[in-house]
Amino acid sequence: MRIAVMPGSFDPFTLGHSDILARSCKLFDYVHVGVLVNKKKTGLFTHAERVTQIKKVIDDMGIKNADAESFVGLTADFAKQHGACAIIRGVRSVSDYENEMKMADLNAKIGDGIETVILFSKPENTHVSSSAVREICEFGGDISGFVPRVIYDEVMERTGNGNEE
Ligand code: PNS
Repeated sequence: MRIAVMPGSFDPFTLGHSDILARSCKLFDYVHVGVLVNKKKTGLFTHAERVTQIKKVIDDMGIKNADAESFVGLTADFAKQHGACAIIRGVRSVSDYENEMKMADLNAKIGDGIETVILFSKPENTHVSSSAVREICEFGGDISGFVPRVIYDEVMERTGNGNEE
């Protein structure tokens, strides 16, 4: 069984993330999405909320070979705990690529040579990021093309753009 992990902050999970996840699930037998718990940073959503959102997206896409959980510490250890042979990361740009190259090297060094598998984002998702979604939504912009439909309302509400009766 070929298992992979897909770590990230996912605050919130975007259509870019869901595309990378769906494509990874075709390459691997099972993908564990890992929401990194960063105690120094408060996000738009709690880690538990992000995990629930990702599970909803997995369900909505009809994906049967993935799940989501939070993790504390190193991605390499998260991968080891799951017996994963690869870490999945999405790359949108040259600057992403440079960061990912460093992380892949460090993860291989501390993670017994674990591979990082890079999937290039689809052109329509090149500029989609969680931080852009948070900012656009905060100022009342339309995020419907950037987040999965099953979490759209939650993101709108959390940023004060929900339908208030
Ligand atoms: O969604 P993000 O913020 O781009 O994800 C970054 C993440 C969580 C993959 C990265 O920060 C990470 O792996 N953090 C865990 C700590 C770690 O393993 N550090 C060593 C690798 S450089």
